[in-house]
Amino acid sequence: MTTTRTTKEWQAADAAHFLHPFTDFQALARKGSRVITRADNIYLWDSDGQRILDAMSGLWCVNVGYGQQALIDAATRQLKELPFYNAFFQTATPPAIELAELLAEVSPPGFEHVFFSGSGSEGNDTVVRMVRRYWDILGQPGRQVIISRKNAYHGSTMAGASLGGMTGMHAQGGLPIPGIVHIEQPYWFENAPDGMSRDAFGLLAAGWLEDKITEIGADKVAAFIGEPIQGAGGVIIPPATYWPEIQRICDRHGILLVSDEVITGFGRTGRWFGSETMGFKPDLMTFAKGVTSGYIPLGGVMVGERVAKVLIEQGGEFNHGYTYSGHPVACAVALANIKLVRELGLVERVREDVGPYLAAGFEQLQAHPLVGEAQTCGLMGALLLVKDKTGRDGRGHAFDAALEVGMVCRAHCFANGLIMRAVGDRMIIAPPLVITQAQIDEMLALIRRCLDLTWAEVRTPTSA
Ligand SMILES: Cc1ncc(COP(=O)(O)O)c(C=O)c1O
Repeated sequence: MTTTRTTKEWQAADAAHFLHPFTDFQALARKGSRVITRADNIYLWDSDGQRILDAMSGLWCVNVGYGQQALIDAATRQLKELPFYNAFFQTATPPAIELAELLAEVSPPGFEHVFFSGSGSEGNDTVVRMVRRYWDILGQPGRQVIISRKNAYHGSTMAGASLGGMTGMHAQGGLPIPGIVHIEQPYWFENAPDGMSRDAFGLLAAGWLEDKITEIGADKVAAFIGEPIQGAGGVIIPPATYWPEIQRICDRHGILLVSDEVITGFGRTGRWFGSETMGFKPDLMTFAKGVTSGYIPLGGVMVGERVAKVLIEQGGEFNHGYTYSGHPVACAVALANIKLVRELGLVERVREDVGPYLAAGFEQLQAHPLVGEAQTCGLMGALLLVKDKTGRDGRGHAFDAALEVGMVCRAHCFANGLIMRAVGDRMIIAPPLVITQAQIDEMLALIRRCLDLTWAEVRTPTSA
């Protein structure tokens, strides 16, 4: 239980003791944190009583919205009955077994097994261990290299941050660890040559994987990993041609294909998994976040039959696992969460109702003078703020990064009761899947107001 304090008191104690993730500690102490005290449905309230529309679902995770009694009851019941037991020594608990069974049911065909972790980062650590082990067992220990992409996000552990392609993260702590290499991302605005269609660019960008495999030698490559849609990188939605071509390249070279579904899993894109929306069939899928709607930490890896068969039938002991692999309370909450997603028909709702509704709203925002690109997939969306919209096949030109236009916009969102995230000059959203059409209208009106305020602040006489 927490005590009741004033905002100033919370901020002082916060600055004195709490080192926040991805934060300049001193700068935050000067500004003071916004202290979030409660939430309901898609709204948060801060310690000053201001209501905020949470267009980011916490951190891409509160898919069923806040305050769902079924999840609260599941946690409470499990905490009373069996708050913890491990799965190491020939033991298991009913929630972990039932969740494994249910995950196999909602996953695409061919996924019958799961390895549990406590987070998405740990899930990706498991991926690294597992794909290298797979090739060891098959007598090809030379296949060690995992290919990932620049501007990817796969977590913040040593392996997760190494798989990710964030230069800021690699600059600290001696990353990436050996055996992980990166290719360029399929980001049309930045990386497509002039005059090239999106579809042609998708094929070109996928070809960068083949180039890298040729350079390294296929007999040294274990796997390729990617987010179906890069989330933390700025909701980069690849052209429709990209993923099927990646699949063909992996198949051609016998390389394992890993889909990091930590954001895109559990309905976010209008299918249970983003790889289904993007039209490819991975061998492994990392998940976390939406599996419990973030009510309690849980992650893991869905292991497809190609890998599972080798690990199970030929692998002997797999020397890997976490204390909280299959934590019974987390698994009980996940079971309640997935059942609720089904009961409410959220995956279909995203695909057929609120997803298309959001897409139509974003299309209208495209006309705003600041917006160069407005894209959505299911309930993920990005607005690219540009200096002008002429030239470069209609792509226009980016603002000078030093102006931090995204941060200007984010500050207006903050002040106007809207949580929207800025990744460079890409303003991104991923609202709870329970959002209604009326609430999307409310969110779009807030976004438009914040765009207008930003435009008034950053427009120059030469702006289009
Ligand atoms: C695609 C992806 N993978 C992995 C992670 C890491 O998950 P966690 O923060 O639970 O470790 C994230 C977190 O945002 C993510 O977006």
